[in-house]
Amino acid sequence: MCGIVGYTGHRQAAPILLDSLSRLEYRGYDSAGLAVRNGTALAEVVKATGKLYHLADKTDQGRALTGNCGIGHTRWATHGDPSVVNAHPHVSGNCSGSGSGAVESDVVGVHNGIIENYTELKEKLLRHGYVFYSDTDTEVAVKLVDYYYKKYKIGPVDAITRCMVRIRGSYALALMFKDYPDEIFAARKDSPMIIGIQDQESYLASDVPAILKYTRQVYYIDNLQVARVSPGKVLFYDLNGDEVSMPLTEITWDAEAAEKGGFEHFMLKEIHEQPQAVRDTLNSLVKDGRIDLSETGLTDEIIQGIEQIDIVACGSAWHVGMAAQYVIEDLAGIPVRVELASEFRYRNIPMDRKTMVIVISQSGETADSLAALRVAKERGTMTLAIVNVIGSTIAREADHVLYTLAGPEIAVATTKAYSAQLAAADVLAIHLARIREKITQEREDEMLAELALLPDKMARILEEKERLQWFSSKMANTHDIFFIGRGLDYAISLEGSLKMKEISYIHSEAYAAGELKHGTISLIETGTLVIGVLTQKELYEKTVSNMMECKSRGAYLMGITTNGNFSVEDSVNFTVYIPKTDEHFMASLAVIPLQLLGYYTSVKGAFRSSWAAARSLLKTVHWTVFRARRTP
Ligand code: AGP
Repeated sequence: MCGIVGYTGHRQAAPILLDSLSRLEYRGYDSAGLAVRNGTALAEVVKATGKLYHLADKTDQGRALTGNCGIGHTRWATHGDPSVVNAHPHVSGNCSGSGSGAVESDVVGVHNGIIENYTELKEKLLRHGYVFYSDTDTEVAVKLVDYYYKKYKIGPVDAITRCMVRIRGSYALALMFKDYPDEIFAARKDSPMIIGIQDQESYLASDVPAILKYTRQVYYIDNLQVARVSPGKVLFYDLNGDEVSMPLTEITWDAEAAEKGGFEHFMLKEIHEQPQAVRDTLNSLVKDGRIDLSETGLTDEIIQGIEQIDIVACGSAWHVGMAAQYVIEDLAGIPVRVELASEFRYRNIPMDRKTMVIVISQSGETADSLAALRVAKERGTMTLAIVNVIGSTIAREADHVLYTLAGPEIAVATTKAYSAQLAAADVLAIHLARIREKITQEREDEMLAELALLPDKMARILEEKERLQWFSSKMANTHDIFFIGRGLDYAISLEGSLKMKEISYIHSEAYAAGELKHGTISLIETGTLVIGVLTQKELYEKTVSNMMECKSRGAYLMGITTNGNFSVEDSVNFTVYIPKTDEHFMASLAVIPLQLLGYYTSVKGAFRSSWAAARSLLKTVHWTVFRARRTP
């Protein structure tokens, strides 16, 4: 996600802003920019794509920008490709070009978040004579503040609160006003921001690491609050513009812990970011209760003409495809094949214009998936990419693109991108079904209402993570783990098994429960852990009976099932319950305990192996010392 920094005080701002931005690089970004004021009406805006050092070089490590008040930004593209034009900061003036250079604009700003209704706000501002130079929702927000600031001749705080009332979505905004040269104004809703003070200097940042070098005294600005930041002083206001007081907090984290938001590892942090990743993705595809895929270019005519869907991907993205297969076939009645990209690219699968090839990829750069996309295009099919990185190669080469908004994924083991892809695939399935009149509008509304509840249900599962932490400590010595399920539960098992394998290094396999008896069951022995995913009402009893076959061979059974299905406890040794939802969407909930299990087993295993290493080292040292004593 994007990173915001700000500084106002007695020192030159630019070098501090660059240093602070460098401590937010872990968040991932594709462009960066600075705006610095030196007390005059002009703000110097400099932006650059790519790595932060490009911006640092462009500004001679900040020395080329003079001024003691400024804001900075690293951008992870959500609206508009990664480019200088779309990079932040953005300005209110009707300037041409990229909004860079010395600009005399009333308002200059940076933003982290997603403004869902930016299209309608942009149309309003165009009607009032504003001109836009970028494709971003941020430029809309900056110009909207400017609009209220001028129209009502009010102060920055009131202009910002009026803007907050009109905006739907999430935002952390840092704004500078021409008439307030050494002040920064901030506002937030659902996107993080902190404000630090030290002596006669003030700092803003999206996250603690950015300013930990400068101060440990911070304010956590609340949702729907505005802050007026001047050198060494911060005033807070509520949505009515009334001043409110906020407590000053002492940050005790060390720098490394701060980068992970207090979590021990990025993977655990990203597991906890899943509710927001799913919420942001759903909000970008469902507006005012209606699915809006217009930005993908998938017209009703195209959708009605699809006769076959081939989903192509690798790894966890392929597992999303396996889940989407069940949902699309069941809802839209379109036959779906799911192919590993590394196989698809070499097969001679008959396909034509009536085939839609969907390539799923978090990075949008995976070589096999990209090669498969190119093969599909050569064969004359329609191609749709579901990707998380705006402007990535797969996104650029596919005929149609559906973006997930999971933000940058730092951990190699994907979690939040997987969940965002699942949500996007579910929305696509519902849309395909509706356009092909397989479901009624009422049924669509019901399903969208269920989807909207997923983030809160995911958060509720995360609140129970200690139970999984305890169970993983019991199972960390397991040598073989089998994940089994039927239908959508099989697709979920695939992801659970990969998470376990790739981070705990324990051998694991996912099996269609009904297939286990055809040979592989001979591997089940005393102590083997068999995890049954039991969320599909029509199928789970069959899976339970497959688990019983394993139990008769000495397996230890864990079941994941929905609240209320407590009869499972009569059969398994350990049960994890998850909230109910439409069965089509169960993968989004059932996968979370499996992610946590893989993570905690890995951490426990790592601890155990490092303890074992320490013990063997202690033994060696003890033996050496003992022998030395005996030597005359
Ligand atoms: C999943 O945890 C792995 N990191 C890996 O399987 C990954 O899903 C796969 O390489 C596909 O990557 P992509 O989504 O970026 O194409």
